[in-house]
Amino acid sequence: MTKLLFVCLGNICRSPMAEFVMRDLVEREGLGDRFEIASAGTSSEEYGNPVYPPARRKLAEHHISCAGKTARPLRAEDYQRWDLLIGMDESNLRNMRRICGGDPEGKIHALMDYTDRPGEVADPWYTGNFEATWQDVSEGCRGLLRSLVK
Ligand code: 4NP
Repeated sequence: MTKLLFVCLGNICRSPMAEFVMRDLVEREGLGDRFEIASAGTSSEEYGNPVYPPARRKLAEHHISCAGKTARPLRAEDYQRWDLLIGMDESNLRNMRRICGGDPEGKIHALMDYTDRPGEVADPWYTGNFEATWQDVSEGCRGLLRSLVK
């Protein structure tokens, strides 16, 4: 069992998109029972809120449901609970290390590092461009899955 936690700032846009894209990918590959997948935010600002409607609509365009997901904050104990903690941008990675008390086991990584264009997942919060986020997240998740099953 591989346990994956995706992390962004609010846990209402990028990391839930990654969570549900990754769930969809592993299900399609018949690997659903080999993975546990969830997401969290480095801020508790959105605690309890559902996935932001434009992110939900972008997933729905691709026949992916995120029903029932509500935002929750990353906590120090998540570091032991999960095998990999995958952030969306540099600020997320800094906050993840702060909350987790560093990264002694090398579990904290950036999603786009699993692609051939490392960097940050496009942040739709200020641009409204959820298509760019979709492209980054789906490429990142496909790369992550390849790295885990090879
Ligand atoms: P997320 O998007 O980190 O991808 O869930 C954001 C959500 C909320 C805010 C910023 C980004 N905010 O500033 O409240």
